[in-house]
Amino acid sequence: MSDQNEAYQSYSHEHRKFAPPAAFSKGAHIFGMETYQAEYDRSIADPEKYWGEVAEDLHWFKKWDQTLDASEAPFFKWFVGGKTNLAYNCLDRHVAEGRGETPALLWEGEPGDRRQLTYRELLKEVCHFANALKGLGIKKGDRVAIYLPMIPDLAVAVLACARIGAVHTVIFAGFSADSIRDRVDDCGAKLIITADGGYRRGKVLALKAIVDEGIADCSSIEAVLVIRRGGALSVECAMQAGRDHWAEDVLEGTSPDCPAEELDAEDLLFLLYTSGTTGKPKGIMHTTGGYMVYTYLTAKYIFDLQANDVYWCTADVGWITGHSYIIYGPMQNGVTQVMYEGAPDFPDYGRFWEIVERYKVTTFYTAPTAIRAFMKWGDEWLTKRDLSSLRLLGTVGEPINPEAWIWYHAVVGGERCPIVDTWWQTETGGIMLSPLPGVTPTKPGCATLPFFGIEPAVLTEEGDPADAGLLAIRKPWPGILRGIYGDAQRFKETYWCKWKGAHYFPGDGARIDEDGYFWILGRVDDVVNVSGHRIGTAELESVFVEHPSVVESAVIGVPHEIKGQGLVAFVTVKMSAKHDEALKKELVTMVDKAIGKFARPERILFSSDLPKTRSGKIMRRLLRDIAEGKALGNTTTLADPSIVEQLQKQYADGTK
Ligand code: PRX
Repeated sequence: MSDQNEAYQSYSHEHRKFAPPAAFSKGAHIFGMETYQAEYDRSIADPEKYWGEVAEDLHWFKKWDQTLDASEAPFFKWFVGGKTNLAYNCLDRHVAEGRGETPALLWEGEPGDRRQLTYRELLKEVCHFANALKGLGIKKGDRVAIYLPMIPDLAVAVLACARIGAVHTVIFAGFSADSIRDRVDDCGAKLIITADGGYRRGKVLALKAIVDEGIADCSSIEAVLVIRRGGALSVECAMQAGRDHWAEDVLEGTSPDCPAEELDAEDLLFLLYTSGTTGKPKGIMHTTGGYMVYTYLTAKYIFDLQANDVYWCTADVGWITGHSYIIYGPMQNGVTQVMYEGAPDFPDYGRFWEIVERYKVTTFYTAPTAIRAFMKWGDEWLTKRDLSSLRLLGTVGEPINPEAWIWYHAVVGGERCPIVDTWWQTETGGIMLSPLPGVTPTKPGCATLPFFGIEPAVLTEEGDPADAGLLAIRKPWPGILRGIYGDAQRFKETYWCKWKGAHYFPGDGARIDEDGYFWILGRVDDVVNVSGHRIGTAELESVFVEHPSVVESAVIGVPHEIKGQGLVAFVTVKMSAKHDEALKKELVTMVDKAIGKFARPERILFSSDLPKTRSGKIMRRLLRDIAEGKALGNTTTLADPSIVEQLQKQYADGTK
């Protein structure tokens, strides 16, 4: 296991346990450990029967013929032959069943502008938008890129694609122009939907301009659809005649009727790009029926969604959390949710708590990195607000340190709200390990037990059960990724090569404790989790070597107080080149351009060489030891052991 995860091992001394509050359990969908256990056993004994029954809750134009087809594993198919539509299940179903007047979105922009949409209104907007897409020539199966701020139109655009069977690929609006280009080119998107701008921490992001730069050479793009962010925002947009269209113009005159396309359960729903261990992000494929059923049930039980809940997930729709637990999961459950555009510290550190108070949020789902920032900003921002509406808290994206968990429990949750620490990935589609809030005694820092139908294990490299080792998932589940777009080989190599393809390999280390609880220890590959966002070290390395002065580089993850992990880059420069602050700046600018500001390293160190084995392999483990100030292990296998001492001194000098 990679030693970058040793920090998390320290949680093994954590033995506090919190029973689910009785007041919560009483009204919960799933109540009592016996019920969980019986239901879990049933789901594992006969997953097809189990998932078939769950799927009956939803609308199908045609029922499936076969629940699971594993004949071409690892290319699994769920609900084979079934016809359905996710937008229909998120919207029309509620209107048809008398829930049309329920508020769907309570939206707040960063400057304070607000919009509210009921399910009926959202459906109408989605129909208009879907017709607008059709008007631009978008058909079932076409790829549509979406680069938008967190405004209601983002939900509308995503659902409109789902309605007509176009494949959406949402690109987080913090990604750079180069990242847009790579994604658009990889999937051959015909259309990109963007906005004139959006707000972030008081500044306007000129999104359309970034898109223009990104797609300048993308031959697949036929049209750009530009939404006006509205409110007081006004950004000049250069509109290219014939290619660029204002959404309001295209929407004008469209019909409010747009019957949902009857899609095959295995029709591609979306692509979402995520980082892996190479320089090239991978397009994770999710299809319609299985993802639908899995996000529906996980959202319902893990967030214990009830008719009068006000649910708020603070993620951006640009990440998987926003796909599964802002759009698809909660909306299939017909819940009312808060959507917020901006930063948590704008105009001050109390913004989130003001929102919780204003909308009487009951269910709050955020990332440990945010929790650590709230802790740092001070309790006074919370104590002056009425947070008594909260009944359930959640975390996602990275291991939560017990100290942050305890603070979340005490200061945000007033010691009355269960916390669901949800472990999952872009690839899993939905939550895999998590407490059920009315059932599971929680332990700070622990994702606890598997969801229904999920059979996890902790294994050695050889496949033997272990107390600590690699996390494995033994059985397919409906939300499992269906592949990497255009790269079947990489799909097999990344997730199915270990253990001879018998189990899914998520790339995380885990430990199992005396209660059978799973503790996630972090990534075991060269993927770093910065503020809950996955960044492949190879992605940064390939950026640095583009610089003419750089010979090679090695990027590692180091523990970071707020972000969980930060990035440190060791860069070797040519003898003739100057390695000074100016070069550092140039390298940082290159990261901004190639990926986005959120991927900037904390530190860049220049060195004459990197520690390598005699066969030329960079010893990252030693670099991590250096960065963490640890005693260095055996260096005798190195080609030049003196390099490590030099680097150690340099690192320590810079840290002082
Ligand atoms: O390392 C795990 C970590 O985040 C990775 C997945 O990242 P991504 O696909 O971007 O999805 C993030 C949101 C689902 C995992 O491989 N991770 C996610 N949730 C947790 C976590 N690590 C520990 N505890 C969690 N609750």
